[in-house]
Amino acid sequence: MEQILSRREMLKLSTVAAGTVAISGVAGCASFTGGGNAGTGASNSTSTLPKRKLGALEVSGIGMGAMNTVAGYYGPGIERADAIKLIRAAYDQGVRFFDTAQVYGPFLSEDYLGEAASPFRNDVVISTKFGFNLEGGDRGGIDSSRQVIIRSVEASLKRLRTDHIDLFYQHRVDPKVPIEEVADTVQDLIKQGKVKHFGLSQAGEATIRRAHKVQAVTAIQNEYSFWTRDPEIEVLAVCEELGIGFVPWSPLGMGYLTGKSFSPIEQLDQKTDLRAIAKFPRWTKEAIEANRPLVELLARVGDRRGATPGQTALAWLIHKRPFIVPIPGTRKIAHMKENVAAINVKLTDSDMQELESGFKKIGVVGKNAPPALLEAHDIGSFLESSSKGTYGLSPLPKIRKAI
Ligand SMILES: NC(=O)c1ccc[n+]([C@@H]2O[C@H](COP(=O)([O-])OP(=O)(O)OC[C@H]3O[C@@H](n4cnc5c(N)ncnc54)[C@H](OP(=O)(O)O)[C@@H]3O)[C@@H](O)[C@H]2O)c1
Repeated sequence: MEQILSRREMLKLSTVAAGTVAISGVAGCASFTGGGNAGTGASNSTSTLPKRKLGALEVSGIGMGAMNTVAGYYGPGIERADAIKLIRAAYDQGVRFFDTAQVYGPFLSEDYLGEAASPFRNDVVISTKFGFNLEGGDRGGIDSSRQVIIRSVEASLKRLRTDHIDLFYQHRVDPKVPIEEVADTVQDLIKQGKVKHFGLSQAGEATIRRAHKVQAVTAIQNEYSFWTRDPEIEVLAVCEELGIGFVPWSPLGMGYLTGKSFSPIEQLDQKTDLRAIAKFPRWTKEAIEANRPLVELLARVGDRRGATPGQTALAWLIHKRPFIVPIPGTRKIAHMKENVAAINVKLTDSDMQELESGFKKIGVVGKNAPPALLEAHDIGSFLESSSKGTYGLSPLPKIRKAI
């Protein structure tokens, strides 16, 4: 959801107001609070989590998003020292896969991650993203032209204090630059050793296929969670077919699926919480109330497995496909520990069926993002539409209109 911060919004966010987010649980669901009881409790740097493969890249079976350390997404960010502590604590829990992007902060999240990971850089996989014209003080929009990617990689390497980026995603499909050209630019960076793997974010099937023909795509990072099912239309199938990994962003439904985050837009920080700034449709009072049965369903199934609703939402993703690796984001060590412990939650086939049939029956009220933000998503990742039938052509705006 982060791509939408316009230059004006970014500037607005530079005056960060302190704000508190009211938290309320779901009545009658005892396992909603606390750190979760499905974990190992281990906390040292030798902890390891089961591994998963994203294409040819091995990562811990659950990762961590570092976007949340900075202001502008879920309220005020956290101090540098706390961000570093949080990331190192995640490493202690066995997390070996960290996600960031040039645009988070902008720049600040990469900077925090670079410092935090410096003592164990070669023991972790770091993913970051390009695709905005931000370097050199030029706060332009979506831009995947060759010179912008090259400027971006050099600056990201410096901030991340590393000589290589393990996984370099295009953050948003650029309708002005053919994806083949983008794949070719990243391929050059791979040949130079600056980048190890290529990824795409918020891309649909046609784009994925075209990119993969030029340069093997290692992972797709699209929004996917128990209440946002778009990748089930076509993207998961194409990942499976082509041997590409899938990294769901906002795997906790932007916090809603934890059952601890039921504050509507009016109660969120109006200056630093994007759900309020951009008026996310699922964060109106009506949608918050209407969607509660989804969390109650997660709680019911999770209770049987000793898991919180958030852990159940993450375990559901992990059980969906062996090539899925969620990257929940948080500013709090206790929440991070709860999230990481989701890897140990075992859901049975009948749990999965109950979750699926319950979801179908209940449905979801509200789109996952406001229209202006959805505009920047590639056509194939829209629910109720598809890049199928475009014969592999680029899902450019004119094709969108024709559908
Ligand atoms: N590629 C893209 O376009 C894109 C877009 C968005 C995000 N991302 C990536 O995906 C990562 C995760 O996505 P996300 O942060 O948007 O959504 P998310 O992980 O679904 O949810 C984050 C929200 O959940 C809350 N939360 C997390 N763990 C919790 C817990 N155990 N109990 C209660 N609340 C909890 C967080 O608040 P607290 O801080 O209070 O815990 C925050 O408000 C990001 O960090 C970023 O790296 C990528």
